[in-house]
Amino acid sequence: EKGGYKHFMLKEINEQPRAIRDTTLGRVSLDSGQVFLPDLKLGPEEFRRATQLTIAACGTSWHAALAGKFMIERLARLPVEVDYASEYRYRSPIASPNEIGLLITQSGETADTIAAQREMTSLGIPTLAICNVVGAAITREAHGTITTNAGPEIGVASTKAFTAQLTALFTLALYLAQQRGTAAAEHSLHLVTELSKIPGKVEEVLRSVDDACANLAKSFSNARDFLFLGRGIHYPIALEGALKLKEISYIHAEGYPAGEMKHGPNALIDESLPVVVIATQDPTDPQSVLKYEKTLSNIQEVTARSGRVIAIATEGDHEISKLVEHTLHVPAAPELLLPILETVPLQLLAYHIAVRRGCDVDQPRNLAKSVTVE
Ligand code: F6R
Repeated sequence: EKGGYKHFMLKEINEQPRAIRDTTLGRVSLDSGQVFLPDLKLGPEEFRRATQLTIAACGTSWHAALAGKFMIERLARLPVEVDYASEYRYRSPIASPNEIGLLITQSGETADTIAAQREMTSLGIPTLAICNVVGAAITREAHGTITTNAGPEIGVASTKAFTAQLTALFTLALYLAQQRGTAAAEHSLHLVTELSKIPGKVEEVLRSVDDACANLAKSFSNARDFLFLGRGIHYPIALEGALKLKEISYIHAEGYPAGEMKHGPNALIDESLPVVVIATQDPTDPQSVLKYEKTLSNIQEVTARSGRVIAIATEGDHEISKLVEHTLHVPAAPELLLPILETVPLQLLAYHIAVRRGCDVDQPRNLAKSVTVE
């Protein structure tokens, strides 16, 4: 049942190319660049009129939501707010006219997320869902759903469901952009073409970094703490890298926006602290390049204090390897699609470290796959 893999988690990590492909299947046209999401059931007028999208989710799905904010705001110019589902209804949220709600949930049964959805409904906010389980509770109460076709996820730590959520959010962002008239046809076609290359690129990452992650695990499995840094859309991926490591290896880890280090956490850095820095870039995107350059200075701040940097970088970036102890490469892609690629080495790093520490990776202590209590 584990398809020859030692753990469900490893099997599911390796299923990501298929999960991502199935999540875009039939939803994008490679001829026109058009995105089709008929199951959302809100009309184009409602998307055009929308003034705000509020996303509520928990855990890994909340990280996907944070990344989705960057995609939707950049492509569709629609303001996005992201809430922890467990906090949403306790902060007396204010509904804006023409606001739309979005719940992101692998299981569709998370009690906190159901509670957030009910709060939205009671405020008159129509809700949509991104969910991996057809017919799950949250989809039954939602106006419309984008199903992530990742297939059943058995490992408690979410892997393929997360990258499928990122994929669904990217298609949603492009769909909203098309409905709202903020995406030029040419740009749409370019992005859809790039999206179609992501499964192949994930395959490439799976092949190229697995051994390196296993080797890194040898050097770092005894670390007491880990830091994960990223800027912009890469920051939520840093959070996800830290969560994966915490939940399956029981090593304390924190994700931080790289630029915030000098405002406090730099004090933590010494020669015993591994710091994973997401330092990818899309060289054709000036905003991405600027962010990358700032990230390089953040790396120098860490190495100057003897922190041990593991960089996640874009293929062909040899400069960065001169600055840091270890580099894991991912193929180049547009900025908003890079998160899918950079997630994979972080999953494998957490996996190999947990295995070396003798942890039960599929069933971490104190955790359940579906959290049905608030
Ligand atoms: C972590 C993980 C959890 C879930 C969270 C929400 O690996 O799996 O953080 O993401 O409990 O679950 P869903 O997405 O089912 O609502």
